[in-house]
Amino acid sequence: MAARGGFNTRLGFILASAGSAVGLGNIWKFPFEVGAGGGAAFLVVYLFFAFVLCFPVMTAEIAIGRSTQSSPVTAFKKLGFSKWSGVGYLGLASGLLILSFYNVVAAWSFGYFFEIIQGHFAVGDSFSSYTSNWIKIGAYSIIFIMGTAYIVSRGVSQGIEKAAKIMMPTLILLIFGLIIYALSLPNAFVGIQHYLLPDFSKMTANVVYSALGQAFFSLSLGMGALITFGSYLNKDADVVTSAAIITFTDVFIAFLAGLMMFPFVAYVTEGDLSAMSTISGEEAFIFETLPAVFESLGPNLGVLIGGIFFLLLSFAALTSTISLLEVPTAFLVDEKEINRSKATWSVAAVIFIIGIPSLLGAGASSFFSEFVILPGQSSAISFMSFISMVGGSTFLSVGGFLISIFTAFVWRKQNFSRAINLENPSLISRWLANYVHFAIRYVCPVVLGIISLTTILNNYFGVSFL
Ligand code: TRP
Repeated sequence: MAARGGFNTRLGFILASAGSAVGLGNIWKFPFEVGAGGGAAFLVVYLFFAFVLCFPVMTAEIAIGRSTQSSPVTAFKKLGFSKWSGVGYLGLASGLLILSFYNVVAAWSFGYFFEIIQGHFAVGDSFSSYTSNWIKIGAYSIIFIMGTAYIVSRGVSQGIEKAAKIMMPTLILLIFGLIIYALSLPNAFVGIQHYLLPDFSKMTANVVYSALGQAFFSLSLGMGALITFGSYLNKDADVVTSAAIITFTDVFIAFLAGLMMFPFVAYVTEGDLSAMSTISGEEAFIFETLPAVFESLGPNLGVLIGGIFFLLLSFAALTSTISLLEVPTAFLVDEKEINRSKATWSVAAVIFIIGIPSLLGAGASSFFSEFVILPGQSSAISFMSFISMVGGSTFLSVGGFLISIFTAFVWRKQNFSRAINLENPSLISRWLANYVHFAIRYVCPVVLGIISLTTILNNYFGVSFL
Protein backbone atom coordinates (compact mmCIF):
# COMPACT_ATOMS: atom_id res chain seq x y z
CA MET A 1 0.00 0.00 0.00
CA ALA A 2 1.43 3.36 -1.00
CA ALA A 3 2.02 5.82 1.86
CA ARG A 4 -0.98 8.08 2.28
CA GLY A 5 0.11 10.71 4.78
CA GLY A 6 -2.33 12.67 6.90
CA PHE A 7 -3.12 15.98 8.51
CA ASN A 8 -0.82 17.00 11.34
CA THR A 9 -3.49 18.77 13.31
CA ARG A 10 -7.26 18.95 13.51
CA LEU A 11 -7.02 22.65 12.80
CA GLY A 12 -5.19 21.82 9.57
CA PHE A 13 -8.00 19.46 8.59
CA ILE A 14 -10.64 22.06 9.40
CA LEU A 15 -8.86 24.79 7.44
CA ALA A 16 -8.35 22.54 4.42
CA SER A 17 -11.99 21.42 4.45
CA ALA A 18 -13.22 24.96 4.95
CA GLY A 19 -10.91 25.91 2.08
CA SER A 20 -12.58 23.31 -0.09
CA ALA A 21 -15.96 24.71 0.84
CA VAL A 22 -15.11 28.37 0.48
CA GLY A 23 -14.77 28.99 -3.22
CA LEU A 24 -16.06 30.88 -6.19
CA GLY A 25 -19.49 29.69 -5.07
CA ASN A 26 -19.32 31.79 -1.90
CA ILE A 27 -17.75 34.90 -3.23
CA TRP A 28 -19.50 35.48 -6.46
CA LYS A 29 -22.63 33.30 -6.58
CA PHE A 30 -23.88 33.67 -3.04
CA PRO A 31 -24.25 37.48 -2.77
CA PHE A 32 -26.21 37.61 -6.02
CA GLU A 33 -28.47 34.75 -5.01
CA VAL A 34 -29.17 36.64 -1.81
CA GLY A 35 -29.89 39.74 -3.87
CA ALA A 36 -32.42 37.91 -6.01
CA GLY A 37 -33.91 35.97 -3.11
CA GLY A 38 -35.02 38.80 -0.88
CA GLY A 39 -31.94 39.58 1.23
CA ALA A 40 -32.13 38.23 4.74
CA ALA A 41 -35.13 36.12 3.77
CA PHE A 42 -32.84 34.05 1.53
CA LEU A 43 -30.16 34.10 4.20
CA VAL A 44 -32.46 32.46 6.73
CA VAL A 45 -33.48 29.72 4.31
CA TYR A 46 -29.85 29.19 3.35
CA LEU A 47 -28.75 28.87 6.98
CA PHE A 48 -31.56 26.44 7.59
CA PHE A 49 -30.46 24.18 4.72
CA ALA A 50 -26.78 24.41 5.60
CA PHE A 51 -27.26 23.30 9.18
CA VAL A 52 -30.37 21.13 9.02
CA LEU A 53 -29.63 19.24 5.84
CA CYS A 54 -26.01 19.67 4.78
CA PHE A 55 -24.28 19.41 8.11
CA PRO A 56 -25.47 15.81 8.73
CA VAL A 57 -24.31 14.76 5.25
CA MET A 58 -20.95 16.35 5.93
CA THR A 59 -20.65 14.45 9.21
CA ALA A 60 -21.46 11.21 7.38
CA GLU A 61 -18.83 11.85 4.70
CA ILE A 62 -16.09 12.66 7.20
CA ALA A 63 -17.02 9.64 9.33
CA ILE A 64 -16.87 7.27 6.35
CA GLY A 65 -13.44 8.58 5.39
CA ARG A 66 -12.02 8.67 8.85
CA SER A 67 -13.12 5.21 9.86
CA THR A 68 -11.76 3.57 6.70
CA GLN A 69 -8.73 5.82 6.22
CA SER A 70 -9.51 5.57 2.52
CA SER A 71 -10.75 7.62 -0.37
CA PRO A 72 -14.35 6.97 -1.52
CA VAL A 73 -14.08 3.94 -3.84
CA THR A 74 -11.82 2.06 -1.44
CA ALA A 75 -13.79 3.24 1.59
CA PHE A 76 -17.04 1.55 0.58
CA LYS A 77 -15.14 -1.65 -0.18
CA LYS A 78 -13.39 -1.58 3.17
CA LEU A 79 -16.66 -1.21 4.99
CA GLY A 80 -17.68 -4.44 3.27
CA PHE A 81 -20.10 -3.01 0.73
CA SER A 82 -18.30 -3.30 -2.60
CA LYS A 83 -21.41 -2.53 -4.61
CA TRP A 84 -21.56 0.88 -3.00
CA SER A 85 -18.16 1.75 -4.39
CA GLY A 86 -20.23 2.91 -7.37
CA VAL A 87 -20.97 5.98 -5.27
CA GLY A 88 -17.23 6.52 -5.11
CA TYR A 89 -16.94 6.27 -8.88
CA LEU A 90 -19.81 8.71 -9.32
CA GLY A 91 -17.91 11.10 -7.04
CA LEU A 92 -14.77 10.65 -9.12
CA ALA A 93 -16.69 11.51 -12.25
CA SER A 94 -18.19 14.61 -10.65
CA GLY A 95 -14.79 15.71 -9.38
CA LEU A 96 -13.22 15.45 -12.82
CA LEU A 97 -16.12 17.26 -14.48
CA ILE A 98 -16.37 20.03 -11.89
CA LEU A 99 -12.65 20.68 -11.86
CA SER A 100 -12.47 20.73 -15.65
CA PHE A 101 -14.66 23.85 -15.86
CA TYR A 102 -13.95 25.30 -12.42
CA ASN A 103 -10.31 25.60 -13.43
CA VAL A 104 -11.26 27.69 -16.46
CA VAL A 105 -13.28 30.08 -14.31
CA ALA A 106 -10.43 30.20 -11.81
CA ALA A 107 -8.15 31.07 -14.73
CA TRP A 108 -10.37 34.03 -15.66
CA SER A 109 -10.10 35.35 -12.10
CA PHE A 110 -6.40 34.74 -11.85
CA GLY A 111 -5.85 36.36 -15.25
CA TYR A 112 -7.78 39.42 -14.06
CA PHE A 113 -5.50 39.65 -11.06
CA PHE A 114 -2.55 39.87 -13.46
CA GLU A 115 -4.21 42.42 -15.70
CA ILE A 116 -5.39 44.67 -12.88
CA ILE A 117 -2.09 44.80 -11.03
CA GLN A 118 -0.55 46.00 -14.27
CA GLY A 119 -3.19 48.71 -14.44
CA HIS A 120 -5.03 47.15 -17.40
CA PHE A 121 -8.51 48.07 -16.21
CA ALA A 122 -9.70 47.97 -19.79
CA VAL A 123 -9.94 44.15 -19.73
CA GLY A 124 -13.38 44.75 -18.26
CA ASP A 125 -14.54 46.59 -21.40
CA SER A 126 -14.48 43.43 -23.41
CA PHE A 127 -14.94 40.46 -21.17
CA SER A 128 -16.23 38.35 -24.02
CA SER A 129 -13.17 38.98 -26.11
CA TYR A 130 -11.08 38.17 -23.03
CA THR A 131 -12.76 34.79 -22.53
CA SER A 132 -12.70 33.97 -26.20
CA ASN A 133 -8.95 34.48 -26.33
CA TRP A 134 -8.38 30.80 -25.78
CA ILE A 135 -4.61 30.94 -26.04
CA LYS A 136 -4.32 33.41 -23.22
CA ILE A 137 -6.95 31.78 -21.01
CA GLY A 138 -5.46 28.41 -21.88
CA ALA A 139 -2.11 29.64 -20.57
CA TYR A 140 -3.68 30.96 -17.37
CA SER A 141 -5.54 27.73 -16.84
CA ILE A 142 -2.38 25.69 -17.32
CA ILE A 143 -0.68 27.84 -14.69
CA PHE A 144 -3.63 27.43 -12.34
CA ILE A 145 -3.90 23.66 -12.62
CA MET A 146 -0.13 23.36 -12.30
CA GLY A 147 -0.17 25.44 -9.13
CA THR A 148 -2.92 23.22 -7.77
CA ALA A 149 -1.05 20.07 -8.77
CA TYR A 150 2.17 21.33 -7.23
CA ILE A 151 0.47 21.73 -3.83
CA VAL A 152 -1.39 18.42 -4.04
CA SER A 153 1.71 16.54 -5.18
CA ARG A 154 3.56 17.61 -2.06
CA GLY A 155 1.23 15.54 0.05
CA VAL A 156 -1.40 16.12 2.68
CA SER A 157 0.56 17.72 5.50
CA GLN A 158 3.33 19.35 3.48
CA GLY A 159 1.11 20.46 0.61
CA ILE A 160 -2.60 20.73 1.33
CA GLU A 161 -2.41 21.49 5.04
CA LYS A 162 0.39 24.02 4.74
CA ALA A 163 -1.31 25.81 1.86
CA ALA A 164 -4.59 25.98 3.79
CA LYS A 165 -2.85 27.34 6.87
CA ILE A 166 -1.43 30.19 4.82
CA MET A 167 -4.27 30.84 2.42
CA MET A 168 -7.31 30.68 4.70
CA PRO A 169 -6.17 33.33 7.20
CA THR A 170 -4.97 35.48 4.29
CA LEU A 171 -8.32 35.10 2.59
CA ILE A 172 -10.12 36.25 5.73
CA LEU A 173 -7.81 39.25 6.06
CA LEU A 174 -8.33 40.21 2.42
CA ILE A 175 -12.08 39.98 2.73
CA PHE A 176 -12.13 42.10 5.89
CA GLY A 177 -9.95 44.71 4.21
CA LEU A 178 -12.35 44.84 1.27
CA ILE A 179 -15.41 45.05 3.55
CA ILE A 180 -13.95 48.02 5.37
CA TYR A 181 -13.19 49.71 2.08
CA ALA A 182 -16.59 48.88 0.56
CA LEU A 183 -18.39 50.25 3.61
CA SER A 184 -16.69 53.60 3.11
CA LEU A 185 -18.15 54.00 -0.40
CA PRO A 186 -21.16 56.23 -1.06
CA ASN A 187 -24.48 54.39 -0.70
CA ALA A 188 -22.86 51.53 1.21
CA PHE A 189 -25.57 51.71 3.81
CA VAL A 190 -28.32 51.33 1.22
CA GLY A 191 -26.57 48.20 0.01
CA ILE A 192 -26.33 46.77 3.50
CA GLN A 193 -30.01 47.50 4.08
CA HIS A 194 -30.90 45.65 0.93
CA TYR A 195 -28.78 42.74 2.15
CA LEU A 196 -29.98 42.49 5.71
CA LEU A 197 -33.62 43.49 5.56
CA PRO A 198 -35.75 40.53 4.58
CA ASP A 199 -38.16 40.77 1.68
CA PHE A 200 -40.29 37.68 2.00
CA SER A 201 -42.25 38.44 -1.14
CA LYS A 202 -39.26 37.19 -3.15
CA MET A 203 -39.38 33.78 -1.46
CA THR A 204 -40.71 31.72 -4.34
CA ALA A 205 -40.38 27.95 -4.50
CA ASN A 206 -37.66 28.50 -7.05
CA VAL A 207 -35.61 30.55 -4.64
CA VAL A 208 -35.90 27.93 -1.91
CA TYR A 209 -34.84 25.31 -4.38
CA SER A 210 -31.78 27.23 -5.51
CA ALA A 211 -30.80 27.96 -1.89
CA LEU A 212 -30.54 24.25 -1.33
CA GLY A 213 -28.44 23.62 -4.43
CA GLN A 214 -26.17 26.49 -3.55
CA ALA A 215 -25.67 25.26 0.03
CA PHE A 216 -24.86 21.76 -1.14
CA PHE A 217 -22.33 22.86 -3.76
CA SER A 218 -20.82 25.43 -1.46
CA LEU A 219 -20.19 22.88 1.27
CA SER A 220 -18.43 20.58 -1.23
CA LEU A 221 -20.81 17.71 -0.51
CA GLY A 222 -21.99 14.75 -2.53
CA MET A 223 -18.82 13.65 -4.30
CA GLY A 224 -16.70 12.34 -1.47
CA ALA A 225 -14.33 15.28 -1.20
CA LEU A 226 -14.88 15.18 2.53
CA ILE A 227 -14.63 11.39 2.63
CA THR A 228 -11.19 11.90 1.17
CA PHE A 229 -10.15 14.68 3.54
CA GLY A 230 -11.70 12.75 6.45
CA SER A 231 -9.52 9.79 5.55
CA TYR A 232 -6.48 11.82 6.53
CA LEU A 233 -7.94 12.71 9.89
CA ASN A 234 -6.60 11.40 13.10
CA LYS A 235 -8.60 8.61 14.79
CA ASP A 236 -9.35 10.60 17.92
CA ALA A 237 -10.61 13.84 16.40
CA ASP A 238 -14.18 14.85 17.09
CA VAL A 239 -16.00 14.46 13.76
CA VAL A 240 -19.29 16.10 14.65
CA THR A 241 -17.93 19.35 15.98
CA SER A 242 -15.40 19.51 13.14
CA ALA A 243 -18.25 19.27 10.63
CA ALA A 244 -20.15 21.94 12.52
CA ILE A 245 -17.15 24.27 12.48
CA ILE A 246 -16.57 23.73 8.76
CA THR A 247 -20.23 24.41 7.99
CA PHE A 248 -20.18 27.52 10.12
CA THR A 249 -16.98 28.84 8.52
CA ASP A 250 -18.29 28.37 5.02
CA VAL A 251 -21.56 30.12 5.78
CA PHE A 252 -19.77 32.88 7.64
CA ILE A 253 -17.41 33.63 4.76
CA ALA A 254 -20.33 33.68 2.34
CA PHE A 255 -21.98 36.16 4.68
CA LEU A 256 -18.85 38.31 4.67
CA ALA A 257 -18.76 38.19 0.88
CA GLY A 258 -22.23 39.74 0.96
CA LEU A 259 -21.05 42.52 3.25
CA MET A 260 -18.43 43.31 0.64
CA MET A 261 -20.48 42.86 -2.53
CA PHE A 262 -23.70 44.71 -1.65
CA PRO A 263 -21.94 48.04 -0.99
CA PHE A 264 -20.07 47.60 -4.28
CA VAL A 265 -23.30 47.04 -6.17
CA ALA A 266 -24.97 49.97 -4.37
CA TYR A 267 -22.03 52.19 -5.24
CA VAL A 268 -22.18 51.33 -8.93
CA THR A 269 -25.95 51.62 -9.18
CA GLU A 270 -26.06 54.73 -6.97
CA GLY A 271 -28.23 53.00 -4.45
CA ASP A 272 -30.68 51.39 -6.84
CA LEU A 273 -30.45 47.71 -6.06
CA SER A 274 -33.64 46.72 -7.80
CA ALA A 275 -31.57 45.27 -10.65
CA MET A 276 -30.23 42.72 -8.22
CA SER A 277 -33.66 41.23 -7.71
CA THR A 278 -33.51 39.58 -11.08
CA ILE A 279 -29.81 39.47 -11.49
CA SER A 280 -28.29 36.56 -13.25
CA GLY A 281 -25.51 38.80 -14.46
CA GLU A 282 -23.07 38.28 -11.62
CA GLU A 283 -20.42 37.35 -14.13
CA ALA A 284 -20.89 40.64 -15.92
CA PHE A 285 -20.83 42.53 -12.65
CA ILE A 286 -17.60 40.99 -11.46
CA PHE A 287 -15.70 40.99 -14.73
CA GLU A 288 -17.11 44.06 -16.47
CA THR A 289 -18.50 46.47 -13.91
CA LEU A 290 -16.03 46.04 -11.08
CA PRO A 291 -12.90 46.76 -13.15
CA ALA A 292 -14.46 50.08 -14.13
CA VAL A 293 -15.16 50.79 -10.47
CA PHE A 294 -11.55 50.04 -9.61
CA GLU A 295 -10.38 52.28 -12.42
CA SER A 296 -12.45 55.15 -11.05
CA LEU A 297 -10.50 54.94 -7.81
CA GLY A 298 -7.41 56.23 -9.55
CA PRO A 299 -4.31 54.33 -10.64
CA ASN A 300 -2.85 53.53 -7.21
CA LEU A 301 -5.87 52.77 -5.11
CA GLY A 302 -7.54 51.06 -8.06
CA VAL A 303 -4.63 48.68 -8.54
CA LEU A 304 -4.55 47.98 -4.81
CA ILE A 305 -8.25 47.34 -4.23
CA GLY A 306 -8.78 45.62 -7.58
CA GLY A 307 -5.66 43.53 -7.08
CA ILE A 308 -6.84 42.45 -3.63
CA PHE A 309 -10.27 41.59 -4.97
CA PHE A 310 -9.03 39.30 -7.73
CA LEU A 311 -6.38 37.81 -5.47
CA LEU A 312 -9.16 36.95 -3.03
CA LEU A 313 -11.12 35.30 -5.80
CA SER A 314 -8.07 33.33 -6.96
CA PHE A 315 -7.25 32.16 -3.44
CA ALA A 316 -10.81 31.07 -2.83
CA ALA A 317 -10.70 29.14 -6.10
CA LEU A 318 -7.32 27.57 -5.37
CA THR A 319 -8.26 26.06 -2.01
CA SER A 320 -11.24 24.50 -3.80
CA THR A 321 -9.35 23.18 -6.82
CA ILE A 322 -6.95 21.54 -4.38
CA SER A 323 -9.75 19.48 -2.84
CA LEU A 324 -11.21 18.66 -6.24
CA LEU A 325 -7.86 17.41 -7.51
CA GLU A 326 -7.21 15.45 -4.32
CA VAL A 327 -10.19 13.13 -4.88
CA PRO A 328 -9.01 11.45 -8.11
CA THR A 329 -5.41 11.60 -6.89
CA ALA A 330 -6.25 9.74 -3.69
CA PHE A 331 -8.18 7.20 -5.74
CA LEU A 332 -5.09 6.41 -7.82
CA VAL A 333 -2.91 6.24 -4.72
CA ASP A 334 -5.27 4.01 -2.70
CA GLU A 335 -6.77 1.84 -5.36
CA LYS A 336 -4.03 1.62 -7.99
CA GLU A 337 -1.05 2.13 -5.69
CA ILE A 338 0.42 4.79 -7.92
CA ASN A 339 2.85 7.18 -6.34
CA ARG A 340 1.27 10.46 -5.30
CA SER A 341 3.34 12.77 -7.41
CA LYS A 342 2.82 10.76 -10.59
CA ALA A 343 -0.89 10.40 -9.81
CA THR A 344 -1.32 14.13 -9.25
CA TRP A 345 0.39 15.28 -12.41
CA SER A 346 -1.38 12.74 -14.60
CA VAL A 347 -4.80 13.67 -13.23
CA ALA A 348 -3.99 17.35 -13.70
CA ALA A 349 -3.11 16.73 -17.34
CA VAL A 350 -6.33 14.78 -17.91
CA ILE A 351 -8.37 17.55 -16.27
CA PHE A 352 -6.82 20.16 -18.49
CA ILE A 353 -7.74 18.11 -21.55
CA ILE A 354 -11.32 17.50 -20.41
CA GLY A 355 -11.52 21.24 -19.78
CA ILE A 356 -10.61 22.22 -23.35
CA PRO A 357 -14.22 22.29 -24.59
CA SER A 358 -15.12 24.55 -21.63
CA LEU A 359 -12.17 26.75 -22.49
CA LEU A 360 -13.26 27.00 -26.12
CA GLY A 361 -16.92 27.32 -25.20
CA ALA A 362 -16.58 30.86 -23.87
CA GLY A 363 -16.59 32.48 -27.27
CA ALA A 364 -13.74 30.90 -29.21
CA SER A 365 -15.78 28.09 -30.70
CA SER A 366 -19.43 28.59 -31.51
CA PHE A 367 -20.01 24.85 -31.38
CA PHE A 368 -19.01 24.65 -27.70
CA SER A 369 -20.36 28.10 -26.83
CA GLU A 370 -23.82 27.16 -27.98
CA PHE A 371 -23.52 23.53 -27.20
CA VAL A 372 -27.00 22.22 -26.56
CA ILE A 373 -30.60 23.31 -26.33
CA LEU A 374 -32.22 21.43 -23.48
CA PRO A 375 -35.84 20.30 -23.51
CA GLY A 376 -38.09 23.10 -22.35
CA GLN A 377 -35.47 25.78 -23.01
CA SER A 378 -35.48 28.25 -25.84
CA SER A 379 -31.79 29.07 -26.11
CA ALA A 380 -28.62 27.04 -26.22
CA ILE A 381 -26.28 26.72 -23.25
CA SER A 382 -22.51 26.46 -23.40
CA PHE A 383 -20.51 23.31 -22.86
CA MET A 384 -19.39 24.71 -19.52
CA SER A 385 -22.95 25.27 -18.32
CA PHE A 386 -23.90 21.82 -19.47
CA ILE A 387 -21.02 20.14 -17.65
CA SER A 388 -21.73 22.20 -14.57
CA MET A 389 -25.30 20.99 -14.67
CA VAL A 390 -24.29 17.34 -15.03
CA GLY A 391 -21.30 17.23 -12.67
CA GLY A 392 -22.02 20.12 -10.36
CA SER A 393 -25.70 19.69 -9.79
CA THR A 394 -27.08 16.32 -10.92
CA PHE A 395 -24.22 14.07 -9.81
CA LEU A 396 -23.78 15.89 -6.50
CA SER A 397 -27.41 15.65 -5.46
CA VAL A 398 -27.62 11.99 -6.47
CA GLY A 399 -24.31 11.35 -4.68
CA GLY A 400 -25.52 13.08 -1.54
CA PHE A 401 -28.77 11.12 -1.63
CA LEU A 402 -26.91 7.81 -1.93
CA ILE A 403 -24.44 8.73 0.82
CA SER A 404 -27.26 9.45 3.24
CA ILE A 405 -29.12 6.25 2.32
CA PHE A 406 -25.93 4.29 2.75
CA THR A 407 -25.13 5.80 6.13
CA ALA A 408 -28.61 5.41 7.55
CA PHE A 409 -29.76 2.08 6.18
CA VAL A 410 -26.74 0.09 5.04
CA TRP A 411 -23.93 1.07 7.34
CA ARG A 412 -26.44 1.76 10.11
CA LYS A 413 -26.57 3.70 13.29
CA GLN A 414 -24.28 1.59 15.43
CA ASN A 415 -21.33 1.69 13.05
CA PHE A 416 -21.89 5.30 12.14
CA SER A 417 -22.04 6.11 15.81
CA ARG A 418 -18.79 4.29 16.45
CA ALA A 419 -17.19 6.11 13.52
CA ILE A 420 -18.17 9.47 14.92
CA ASN A 421 -16.23 8.31 17.92
CA LEU A 422 -17.41 10.22 20.92
CA GLU A 423 -15.36 8.94 23.78
CA ASN A 424 -15.61 11.86 26.09
CA PRO A 425 -18.22 13.90 24.34
CA SER A 426 -19.10 17.36 25.43
CA LEU A 427 -22.77 18.01 25.88
CA ILE A 428 -22.85 19.90 22.60
CA SER A 429 -21.23 17.20 20.52
CA ARG A 430 -23.54 14.58 22.02
CA TRP A 431 -26.51 16.74 21.19
CA LEU A 432 -25.24 17.37 17.66
CA ALA A 433 -24.60 13.65 17.16
CA ASN A 434 -28.16 12.82 18.18
CA TYR A 435 -29.45 15.31 15.69
CA VAL A 436 -27.20 13.93 12.94
CA HIS A 437 -28.52 10.41 13.52
CA PHE A 438 -32.07 11.62 13.27
CA ALA A 439 -31.53 13.79 10.19
CA ILE A 440 -29.47 11.32 8.18
CA ARG A 441 -32.33 8.84 8.50
CA TYR A 442 -35.49 10.88 8.34
CA VAL A 443 -34.61 14.19 6.69
CA CYS A 444 -31.69 13.91 4.26
CA PRO A 445 -32.78 10.88 2.19
CA VAL A 446 -36.26 12.27 1.60
CA VAL A 447 -35.21 15.80 0.72
CA LEU A 448 -32.19 14.79 -1.34
CA GLY A 449 -34.23 12.11 -3.10
CA ILE A 450 -36.83 14.67 -4.12
CA ILE A 451 -34.16 17.14 -5.17
CA SER A 452 -32.34 14.56 -7.30
CA LEU A 453 -35.51 13.52 -9.03
CA THR A 454 -36.79 17.01 -9.72
CA THR A 455 -33.36 18.14 -10.90
CA ILE A 456 -33.16 15.32 -13.41
CA LEU A 457 -36.72 15.75 -14.67
CA ASN A 458 -36.35 19.49 -14.88
CA ASN A 459 -32.91 19.71 -16.48
CA TYR A 460 -33.04 16.89 -18.98
CA PHE A 461 -36.72 16.40 -19.68
CA GLY A 462 -37.99 19.92 -19.35
CA VAL A 463 -40.58 18.93 -16.73
CA SER A 464 -41.07 21.90 -14.47
CA PHE A 465 -42.59 21.66 -11.02
CA LEU A 466 -42.14 25.19 -9.83
N1 TRP B 1 -17.35 24.47 -2.62
C1 TRP B 1 -16.66 25.06 -3.70
C2 TRP B 1 -17.27 26.42 -4.02
O1 TRP B 1 -18.15 26.87 -3.35
C3 TRP B 1 -16.60 24.18 -4.91
C4 TRP B 1 -16.11 22.82 -4.59
C5 TRP B 1 -14.88 22.47 -4.23
C6 TRP B 1 -16.85 21.62 -4.56
N2 TRP B 1 -14.80 21.12 -3.98
C7 TRP B 1 -15.98 20.60 -4.18
C8 TRP B 1 -18.17 21.37 -4.81
C9 TRP B 1 -16.43 19.31 -4.03
C10 TRP B 1 -18.63 20.08 -4.66
C11 TRP B 1 -17.77 19.06 -4.26
O2 TRP B 1 -16.88 27.06 -4.95
